[in-house]
Amino acid sequence: MKPLTVTTTSATYPVVVESGALASLPDRLQALGLRGALWLVCDGAVAELYGAPLAERLRAAGHTVHTFSVPPGDASKSPAQLGELHTWMIAGGIERRDAVLALGGGVVGDLAGFAAATILRGVAVIQLPTTLLSMVDAAVGGKTGINHPLGKNLIGAFHQPRLVLADTDTLASLPPRALREGWAEVIKHGVIRDAELFEDLEHLANERGWSAQSPGGLWDAADAGLTAQLSDLIRRAVAVKVEVVSIDEFERGERITLNYGHTVGHAVEQLSRYGLLHGESVAVGMHAEAGIARLMDMCDGDLAGRQAALIHAYGLETKLPAYDIDAILALAMRDKKVQAKKIRWVLPTAIGSVLVRDDVPEELLRRALQA
Ligand SMILES: NC(=O)c1ccc[n+]([C@@H]2O[C@H](COP(=O)([O-])OP(=O)(O)OC[C@H]3O[C@@H](n4cnc5c(N)ncnc54)[C@H](O)[C@@H]3O)[C@@H](O)[C@H]2O)c1
Repeated sequence: MKPLTVTTTSATYPVVVESGALASLPDRLQALGLRGALWLVCDGAVAELYGAPLAERLRAAGHTVHTFSVPPGDASKSPAQLGELHTWMIAGGIERRDAVLALGGGVVGDLAGFAAATILRGVAVIQLPTTLLSMVDAAVGGKTGINHPLGKNLIGAFHQPRLVLADTDTLASLPPRALREGWAEVIKHGVIRDAELFEDLEHLANERGWSAQSPGGLWDAADAGLTAQLSDLIRRAVAVKVEVVSIDEFERGERITLNYGHTVGHAVEQLSRYGLLHGESVAVGMHAEAGIARLMDMCDGDLAGRQAALIHAYGLETKLPAYDIDAILALAMRDKKVQAKKIRWVLPTAIGSVLVRDDVPEELLRRALQA
């Protein structure tokens, strides 16, 4: 299958999303002219499963491969862990022509990507995402970074990868809750830019009888028909991210649309003290923000209903937890999209299109959140 292509002013690179994609890595590295040593950084949960066989395959193709395993979890996006990676690379004799491979979810992608951006003032990075969230979002677009004790993702750099290779077979080992949260971002990409993707997600759910009572969306390696359909939907959701970052590499315009559901979502995620996963919070956020659009007369009631049914069919909730609305609004005011003290809301006008509005009255917000 033809790869997708990100084209920005600083880089053009292929994004491959398919079953068995990891097997093609040696050939693809050769095509990119990357012949130096490879620095394979793996999430601890996937090091044995996919990291070791991948390192073997790369060595058999003639590469020198160094491996490093990072403890799972967001705490690894730390200055200390970054320092360990730098030390490992410097002590091992990394050179400018070498490449860093990031195998894991967004945590490893962000951390190893930032290590690659900063070591020797920048070496190549290849993103090999193994979670649905990182395939659809984190691995594409070149944002890398770590957390600071005062906040998440505050230290980082734009460093576009030379290649993104998402092997959907790796989703077979992802815990069900982690897989389900990823569908929130897939659905989001349908709502903001691809009505056909949204409809095909609906068709699959109808065909399979998925609903709030009997949710689906899970990977079943024994069902080849299902995994092929899911892979295709994932690839099309990645295509939306590819298009958006190609239009707006540095988040000055179009990229804001990817934040649909994230203003309320981030607030809910923080108020839950990260008890709710990112995708779970975004699902709740999309429902709330579709409600705001409806009260603003930007879309009809059907949109929020269809979106909620789809979210439920893929195993996620839409109900806003009983948090204080003032607390949600206070956190929303700290959102990165706030400009001149106004929240810029990304709101749907129809399935497949959104508008940015900074004129939503506070009273209307309160009504939407209460509803
Ligand atoms: N750079 C960006 O543009 C961007 C965008 C969105 C999110 N992010 C960042 O991404 C991070 C979240 O990423 P994530 O959701 O992928 O989480 P993650 O990297 O923490 O992975 C989730 C869990 O799944 C495990 N895991 C990963 N792949 C697996 C597999 N195939 N089988 C079994 N277990 C597996 C991991 O060990 C981890 O416990 C956050 O730090 C967030 O800030 C970055």
